[in-house]
Amino acid sequence: MKNPNKISSRDVTPADVYFNRRTFIRAGILAASAVATGVAYRHLNPVAAGKVNTPVIPGITKPNVATADAAGFRVDEPETSLEDITHYNNFYEFSTDKEGVAPAAEGFETKGWQVSVEGLVKKPRVFDLDDLLKISPPEERIYRMRCVEAWSMVIPWVGFSLSKLLDVVEPLGSAHYVAFETLLDPKRMPGQRSDVLDWPYVEGLRMDEAMHPLTILASGIYGRALPPQDGAPIRLVVPWKYGFKGIKSVVKIKLVADQPRTTWSAYAPNEYGFYANVNPHVDHPRWSQATEQRIGESGRRPTLMFNGYEEQVGHLYAGMDLRTNF
Ligand code: MTE
Repeated sequence: MKNPNKISSRDVTPADVYFNRRTFIRAGILAASAVATGVAYRHLNPVAAGKVNTPVIPGITKPNVATADAAGFRVDEPETSLEDITHYNNFYEFSTDKEGVAPAAEGFETKGWQVSVEGLVKKPRVFDLDDLLKISPPEERIYRMRCVEAWSMVIPWVGFSLSKLLDVVEPLGSAHYVAFETLLDPKRMPGQRSDVLDWPYVEGLRMDEAMHPLTILASGIYGRALPPQDGAPIRLVVPWKYGFKGIKSVVKIKLVADQPRTTWSAYAPNEYGFYANVNPHVDHPRWSQATEQRIGESGRRPTLMFNGYEEQVGHLYAGMDLRTNF
């Protein structure tokens, strides 16, 4: 049984740089052939760099970084190529092989998608996807994503703050957490025919984390609708937490009183906590979290506290021991 959050001793050897040979070679070639050229190419022609032909999302706005509200919404670092974002994935409902997800998820049917928002709210509602997406204009948010396996990407998401959706359903004072659930349908998600994880995949956030403006529901990348492998048609993105908190293909959002079960902490509670905040000072039990390999770059860079979003989110954890609440 493989675990996306587990890496073999081979993977922790610096020479193997945490990811497969093909990606490693590509990273090397990119670095050697002047990273700037590759970056410029991807900026000019991001879609041609990959094989994603999902529809273009109209009316995307770009938050103004000068406003206090938007602080942290846009990272001024080269974006990871569309090819890597869409062909190096963790999505166990389709495959446990990072490069196997895209082919296994091809053709995943999302027509008629609905998201139920329920639990401790005044106005529970089952949203058709189109109605949900109308709640707030789509924004391009360029976020770092740091995976627990110690690699990272910079991803231009299209989405809006989850808080806008929660405002519509009016949480009750008794709601302290938000629980998320992925579609359960072994016919459409072949990985669910195995017991590699307990299905459906579930995640959770504390209410203040869920209401933070950096927390988004994403429906696109690089200006286009999400391809299946990245969590079509809608997923969670919480940029200061390890990537596994970004639950994909969400069908249920439930406001609850108690801390909900989450897939990876249920699977290996000593390795994956509920909070999963990116923290270079708290190592995974089997490897360091002090540095990371940015996909498409050579060499390693230091990992930033809260993935670089400390100014925006540090106050949420004031007074908490982040070693026990990992
Ligand atoms: N969501 C579901 N439903 N199933 C999964 O297996 N994997 C998680 C997270 N969301 C996963 C999931 C993990 S481990 C990571 S690192 C991110 O998705 C990867 O997102 P990406 O493939 O878009 O980079």
